[in-house]
Amino acid sequence: MQSSVHSGSSGPFDVLVVGGGIIGLVTAWRAAQRGLRTALCDPSPGGGAAQVAAGMLAAVTELHYGEETLLGLNLASAERYPHFAAELSEAAGGVDIGYRPCGTLAVALDADDRLHLRELHALQRRCGLQSQWLTGRECRRLEPMLAPGVRGGLRVDGDHQADPRRLAAALLAACERAGVAVHRSRAERLTVAADRATGAVLEDGTALRADQVVLAAGSLSGRLPGLPPGVVPPVRPVKGQVLRLTVPPAYRPFLSRTVRAVVRGSHVYLVPRENGELVLGATSEELGWDTTVTAGGVYELLRDAHELVPGITELPLTETRAGLRPGSPDNAPLLGPTELPGLHLATGHYRNGVLLTPLTGEVLAEVLTTGELPEIARPFSPRRFSAAREESLV
Ligand code: GLY
Repeated sequence: MQSSVHSGSSGPFDVLVVGGGIIGLVTAWRAAQRGLRTALCDPSPGGGAAQVAAGMLAAVTELHYGEETLLGLNLASAERYPHFAAELSEAAGGVDIGYRPCGTLAVALDADDRLHLRELHALQRRCGLQSQWLTGRECRRLEPMLAPGVRGGLRVDGDHQADPRRLAAALLAACERAGVAVHRSRAERLTVAADRATGAVLEDGTALRADQVVLAAGSLSGRLPGLPPGVVPPVRPVKGQVLRLTVPPAYRPFLSRTVRAVVRGSHVYLVPRENGELVLGATSEELGWDTTVTAGGVYELLRDAHELVPGITELPLTETRAGLRPGSPDNAPLLGPTELPGLHLATGHYRNGVLLTPLTGEVLAEVLTTGELPEIARPFSPRRFSAAREESLV
């Protein structure tokens, strides 16, 4: 069901989700599945960062020191993917989200990269994760298109991929089929009455009233007018430029799994889809809301990817695009109730939005129906930042 866009008052709903990226959509879908009357607003639902992201489900290869708690959340979400993909596809009337259990190979191109990968391998082992050290020759046996100079690598058979564009389309279809009232308009401001979030007024003039509001507007989440100062989420945009190439049928399979490396300190990855699309990412730039694709960004990505897989320069370059990751101070998401009664957050997923989509939907649906944040999500309560703010004031 798709609501008609008109001015006036609409609701009351049990839940209003502000933001129709993959996180907002999964939240609305899961809430509607639990029987909650749910509305969602976004000028372009299904758009946002998911239109740019590569869709790596890289809990193990993107592990970082100090992020072991986040690792638990990432692994729990990765584990849900096969079932989530099947359930969503059915709920969306057969839209396939491109979940591909293909694994990942992270390689080293020089002695520094090799050291970095060895350290990552040691950390993975300390965390009890599955990954296998391969020599350069073993890497090339697995992926013959790799450069002859590859010095070694880590084979991670548990880090897979999904296609974020198809994921967004499937979630939107599932929302509409589950009866979510989708308003194609931007939230102009949050409404608050008697110290409680009560809904939002949209740019088209509609006032949506709801018992509970979920703010899931990605990197824009901190910019919604009407948010009381104490609950403004500390998210910021982190720009990523991403290229898409096409592997002609005669060249397939060009790569059989995700291949990645750190080249001169920058992450470069190549994600091959079954339909021949090859996603090449990504820059990481702190430039505010700028989404310009720059010559420098494209040059660096192609230069680094060419060192990794020289044959990519033969492929048609079909798309260049930049998106904004919703970065948070500790690189982890903000999930659940805020200090403002009735207002929840589902934002700040940074590099893990696609990976964390299944678990975010589940966690938010649970908190919206029971009022309780599930155990696994408690370390990611937005209140961890309110507490930090208060401590810094004493
Ligand atoms: N997780 C990949 C990226 O954010 O570029």
